[in-house]
Amino acid sequence: MAKGFYISKNMGLAGLLMGTVAVVIIIALAAVYDKEKTKNQNKPVDGVAMLTTASPTTSSTLSTPKDPWEHYRLPDSLSPVSYNITLWPRLVVNASTGLYIFTGQSAVVFQCKKDTDLIVIHCNKLNLTLLNGHHARLTGLDGATAPTVKTSWLQVKTEYLVIQLNGKLTAGKSYRLSTDFQGELADDLKGFYRSEYTEDGGKKVVATSQMQATFARKAFPCFDEPAMKAVFHITLIHQRGTVALSNGRDVDGTEVTMTRFEPTKRMSTYLLAFIVSDFDHITGSIENNNVRIWARRKAIAEGHGNYALNVTGPMLKFFERYYNASYPLSKSDQIALPDFNAGAMENWGLITYRETALLYDPAISSVGNKERVLTVVAHELAHMWFGNLVTLRWWNDLWLNEGFASYVEYLGADYAEPTWNIKEQTILNDVHKVFAVDALASSHPLSRKEEEVNQPDEISEMFNTISYSKVLYVLENLLQQGFLCSRTSPTSYLNEFAFNNTVYSDLWDHLQKAVLTTPGMSLPHTVHDIMNRWILQMGFPVVTIDTAMGHITQKHFLLDPDSVVDRPSPYNYTWLVPIKWMKGGVEREQHWLLQETGISNATGSEWVLANLNVSGYYRVNYDMDNWERLLNQLTTDHTVIPLINRAQIVDDAFNLMIYYQVPSVLILYITRYLSQERDYIPWESALRNLNYYILMFDRGQAYGVLQGYLKMQITPLFEYFRTITVDWTRVPTGHNDQYNQINAISFACRMGVERCRVLTSDWFREWMLNPDHNPIHPNLKKTVYCNAIAAGGVEEWDFAWQMFKNATVATEAAKLRSSLACTKVPWLLNRYLDYSLDPAKIRKQDCTSTINYIAGNVVGMPLAWDFIRARWNYIYTEYGGGSFSFSNLINSVTRRFSTEFELKQLKQFKEDNARVGFGSGTLALEQAIERTTANIKWVAENQEHVMKWLANECT
Ligand SMILES: *[C@@H]1O[C@H](CO)[C@@H](O)[C@H](O)[C@H]1NC(C)=O
Ligand SMILES: *[C@@H]1O[C@H](CO)[C@@H](O)[C@H](O)[C@H]1NC(C)=O
Ligand SMILES: *[C@@H]1O[C@H](CO)[C@@H](O)[C@H](O)[C@H]1NC(C)=O
Ligand SMILES: *[C@@H]1O[C@H](CO)[C@@H](O)[C@H](O)[C@H]1NC(C)=O
Ligand SMILES: [Zn+2]
Repeated sequence: MAKGFYISKNMGLAGLLMGTVAVVIIIALAAVYDKEKTKNQNKPVDGVAMLTTASPTTSSTLSTPKDPWEHYRLPDSLSPVSYNITLWPRLVVNASTGLYIFTGQSAVVFQCKKDTDLIVIHCNKLNLTLLNGHHARLTGLDGATAPTVKTSWLQVKTEYLVIQLNGKLTAGKSYRLSTDFQGELADDLKGFYRSEYTEDGGKKVVATSQMQATFARKAFPCFDEPAMKAVFHITLIHQRGTVALSNGRDVDGTEVTMTRFEPTKRMSTYLLAFIVSDFDHITGSIENNNVRIWARRKAIAEGHGNYALNVTGPMLKFFERYYNASYPLSKSDQIALPDFNAGAMENWGLITYRETALLYDPAISSVGNKERVLTVVAHELAHMWFGNLVTLRWWNDLWLNEGFASYVEYLGADYAEPTWNIKEQTILNDVHKVFAVDALASSHPLSRKEEEVNQPDEISEMFNTISYSKVLYVLENLLQQGFLCSRTSPTSYLNEFAFNNTVYSDLWDHLQKAVLTTPGMSLPHTVHDIMNRWILQMGFPVVTIDTAMGHITQKHFLLDPDSVVDRPSPYNYTWLVPIKWMKGGVEREQHWLLQETGISNATGSEWVLANLNVSGYYRVNYDMDNWERLLNQLTTDHTVIPLINRAQIVDDAFNLMIYYQVPSVLILYITRYLSQERDYIPWESALRNLNYYILMFDRGQAYGVLQGYLKMQITPLFEYFRTITVDWTRVPTGHNDQYNQINAISFACRMGVERCRVLTSDWFREWMLNPDHNPIHPNLKKTVYCNAIAAGGVEEWDFAWQMFKNATVATEAAKLRSSLACTKVPWLLNRYLDYSLDPAKIRKQDCTSTINYIAGNVVGMPLAWDFIRARWNYIYTEYGGGSFSFSNLINSVTRRFSTEFELKQLKQFKEDNARVGFGSGTLALEQAIERTTANIKWVAENQEHVMKWLANECT
């Protein structure tokens, strides 16, 4: 391209400056849409959002629109080949508009696939400069003549720039479309946006980007669909002294004010990234010298990027071996941003993170903070191949992209930290979490039809917990059949589709091929048959093994079996379930369950245990005799039962109990073995489930005995940790032991173990006497602060408040803020509630979560409920439009509700404030009423049995 777009340095600057004083600027957008969007944004990392995301709305295409620009999907007549993009973000406010802005020029070369006189290209919120009276300039390439532009306009609703031509573009020919534009560098976390922070006393501004899923069109006009892959030639213009980063390696050096990047590989728009900042970085050792970690200068100087750098090199090597394909790019940058919406984003070659997901400070961060860095980095690096090199054709298949990355993430993390046994945690973090949502009648299948997912809102609804976690376990079913060892299937799949797009069934094809070509491998059904049942119907089965009759059945598991499923399934809610099982401690031959089948060797007097190591995505129920045999085994020698299955037995029993006639005392029998349990996974599983009992009983007369009983169960664990830490002078070395120690202390204190109270109060006192020297280990801070404040009075509280105000590290401030809600002193709690609405004391973004913490405290709950009711009008008007999340608020305040009186109050509250409204809490309020009703029923049915059993057990 001779007279190409590529501007010389001087020319380019002049040209771009022109943009700012441009003659005619067109408004590309109405701002209304945006607010809606933020409200519906699903953040998979946020557990509470799950329930509301379980049921995506279906497309509301009542009448079929006629014109191509009214469709949300691009026509298939044009296909992009390459782009040249120059962007110039300004990190100071523009004097004439009062906004932070960026200017840009873009030229896209595209090929015409079908004759057409129409160009439809995505463009959102950009002010386009008119070129010869039109929004864009069209040039024919390689001898093609471009028709002249008849008319052009911005179609705001579908986010298009539409250009009608006077003649046709010819199939097979290539053209170039050029645009000049100006956009706002807003603080909206979308497209090209700005992030702010203070350092060395001054405000600093970063220009950064988030394109997934549909925001690249807000940075430059583009064919913004994942299958519209192209090569991108990117140039960033920026102030001297700042650094520009993008997907490729810079080719001009960083000392110039215009940084040009090598052309990218053929890639999707949603994986682009542009960043201008004055951040600093660290670089890996010689063999990893293309690996860099970027962050605020201070964070880098203090070494907070070191951990991420340490694990990235080995993980990239691991993934290269796993995928049997070398890292596809010339460099790997990872950057921590002060403002970032999701947890992290896998932009190809320039991964963006929240600070908490990339930075780690050994002196202040806990073991949980460290593990988060490890797993998020592993997840994003896994995407560099699966997702980025090979991309799903459309967003309806997002579940495969995320599910596969979530699966491989554990392999990578396990490789980098082999002693952490990180795979064990998948049962807590993935299986149990998804079970909770996928057991509702309102759940949805993983896979949706391509035509059901069109609009940006429908696309963002695909990012929910089920997408991320379910497929992981389903794949595990298959991968454990030997794919993992052969590894041939991901490799051949990646090879065939590199730099290209696929649909999910392509992966099944490759898996099936691997089955047929791997010696000794066989499956009773095709991969398609097995997998499609898991992805095309929602939910999962409960498998029942009757050891008396010797048969085995399956049934769609619903938390409430009376709920109505109005979504038909092509497979009638039956699955091909791999049954791995053992009897009397010996593994038996695997079955595949579809219809009721005999399993005669399951009978007898020895216990039977199915879903060995929880390799399958299902629950298991047994006849009562077998439950009793399992209980016996747990109480006599629990170690015979695999660790993961101990956690699973606990979780299955609790969940089956709620509605499946497994008596509630069975659960209590199961908890009896806990006094001998020393491992984290089963304890954590039990604690999460016991929490429901505690919430239901902690204000009633049954609580005394329940607490007494649980104190008996936790004391041995507490003492165990006291011993192995030599009277609390060190922390355990095992990764999961560290989590378990935190649990032991916090649960022991909660159940009133006196030595625990003394321990935490003394530690805290020591800190109070010498505020500059905090003696509490980072892992234990949160629980020690909380319990010391709970046991203490105003002196402890005021000290913690002072420390909160002085805290400079975000994680430390967060630990103190939650602990301040632990006090049992009503006037302190009321004062703290008042503080929560005072932005000078508690930042606006932290208001709801502070009230939530207070409501979590049994003393604080009624105070928070009164507080909210008294000030609903004020809270709603002051915080209604902002980050104030009403659904979390309503959930946490009403979680314990279990009496007719509370139900009445709740209904009254709904009535009284009907005129004010509940905003994003509307659905939560309905759910709270439903849940309270269910709780009343549960307490009525169980309280007496539970009390009787406990009274018996405690004497
Ligand atoms: C972009 O610039 C490169 C290098 O100058 C040139 O080879 C290429 O043809 C240009 N592409 C477009 C789309 O203008
Ligand atoms: C785009 O144009 C509109 C109307 O002139 C103006 O209000 C807005 O500030 C412009 N945006 C930018 C980023 O220049
Ligand atoms: C990173 O690795 C180096 C060298 O092995 C080690 O000294 C350092 O402690 C590690 N840093 C972190 C934060 O793990
Ligand atoms: C992408 O895949 C499709 C379908 O398999 C194939 O027709 C096309 O040639 C591929 N494109 C590239 C650039 O590899
Ligand atoms: Zn991901």
